Amino acid sequence: MKSFVFAALFLAGAAVSVPALAQFQKPEDAVKYRQSAMALIGNHFGRIFGQLKADKPNVQTIQSSAALVETLGALPFEAFVPDSTLPNSKAKPEIWTEQEKFKAAAQKMQAAVAKLNTAAKGGDVAAIKAAFSDAGGTCKGCHDDFRAKQ
Ligand code: HEC
Repeated sequence: MKSFVFAALFLAGAAVSVPALAQFQKPEDAVKYRQSAMALIGNHFGRIFGQLKADKPNVQTIQSSAALVETLGALPFEAFVPDSTLPNSKAKPEIWTEQEKFKAAAQKMQAAVAKLNTAAKGGDVAAIKAAFSDAGGTCKGCHDDFRAKQ
């Protein structure tokens, strides 16, 4: 019983003392996290594209990557913390001055990759192609506005 009370107090204390942004100790950590998440999304998105270009797309490969892209799509955005426009980052300052627009673009992509995953599960290649193209449009839309070219 005693140990239960201690555990409860400890958890309550931890919840209060760890602010959300402390998940990244340094701005470099946040940049690395979001770039890694984007790189994984890009890799699996590319695998789907590769299959869709093939004469006989491997639907299982598409399905496993589409499921991952949906999961991974939730990851990058918490790492766009303020003051993390470092030289090795392509994040444009507009991300922080146009937060609402940036968040909306993230949500649009998340909705589109969820639809892509649903289409992939259905297994109809034409439907997957259409959903892939919509999802790709949401990546490009955000990159055009919020990712530096160089
Ligand atoms: C809401 C905005 C937004 C959306 C949506 C978005 N990205 Fe990004 N992406 C960015 C930004 C900003 C960067 C640059 C991050 C940095 O360098 O700090 C980036 C970087 C990348 C990178 C380079 C990662 C690296 O190695 O540095 C890839 C690849 C990528 N995105 C793929 C995608 C794909 C594929 C999608 C769609 C499924 C997508 N992104 C959707 C904003 C977005």
